[in-house]
Amino acid sequence: MFRDELMNHFINLKDIPSKDLRKIITDAKKRKSLRKKLSTLEVDRGEPLKGKLLIQMFEKASSRTRISFYLAIKQLGGGTLTLRSGELHLGLGGESVADTAKIISTYGDGFMLRTDKDKKIEDFKKYLSIPIINGLSPSSHPTQVLSDIFTVEEIMKKPISKLNICWIGDSNNVLNSLIAASVKFSFKLSIGCPKNFEPSKELRNWLKKENKKIYIYNDPKKAVAGADVIFSDKVISLNDKVNKEKKIQAFKKFKVDKKLISFANKNHIFLHCLPRGNEVSDDVFLGKQSHVWQQALNRVHVQKSILLYCFGKLR
Ligand code: CP
Ligand code: NVA
Repeated sequence: MFRDELMNHFINLKDIPSKDLRKIITDAKKRKSLRKKLSTLEVDRGEPLKGKLLIQMFEKASSRTRISFYLAIKQLGGGTLTLRSGELHLGLGGESVADTAKIISTYGDGFMLRTDKDKKIEDFKKYLSIPIINGLSPSSHPTQVLSDIFTVEEIMKKPISKLNICWIGDSNNVLNSLIAASVKFSFKLSIGCPKNFEPSKELRNWLKKENKKIYIYNDPKKAVAGADVIFSDKVISLNDKVNKEKKIQAFKKFKVDKKLISFANKNHIFLHCLPRGNEVSDDVFLGKQSHVWQQALNRVHVQKSILLYCFGKLR
């Protein structure tokens, strides 16, 4: 049971109504433009999350998610406590999720979890009386992708539904969330990946139920043809339990380089959630069509509105 009935969890984009996701983006746009003259730690007018504590726990490494959530809640008047699971009795195997969730709900107002097990998020959700935010799980990375939608619209100055979006890379957590977003925001999504690394059957069945078609190619040039936005991500994700050499070999043809992007629309942009590996060449990643730093900064702005949504304060 939630402490306050207006609260919301933020776990998977596919379970959040489109109108709420759009509301988050609209709020982020407004807040970002209103704080043009404010410095990093200055608080937004009205201090909407004054006195609120977000407890964030990382079972895997993070640079952007950790720092951007710290800034996001600070700019709303609240604060964070960041934990590594190995520092807790839970992480050492000495306490249950149920008891840990009750303790976190006692001390904090919101909980953000980056975990290696999707089930853990569901288990926490069961016992928390405060909202939980998925800060990356094996199956999704919803805060990243919602902020990527914001970045695409900010740069292209068009609703994403009017653009051709392309993903070159592994069928990982970020792509899963992008696929969910393609339904929620109605955009065309083309994916370029090797045959053995296509999106899961489960996700494809969900797309069928949603009456949504996505385009999957095993030839990266076909996926990129006519793209307005090209996304990529690491071939080997955090704690990916695969034969790394074999997987990297399978993706050899899928490197995003100058030659590949020449098949995209002339004014296309390149985005990447970071950290990067060898899936993109330096000249593309650092080239003029790349907006990866703006993309990283926007995590702060969009996560502020996600926090307001979770705390039932999104107007
Ligand atoms: N993009 C992203 O989530 O980065 P971190 O792993 O550094 O948080
Ligand atoms: N797919 C990557 C995203 C990192 C932010 C991973 O899970 O490691």
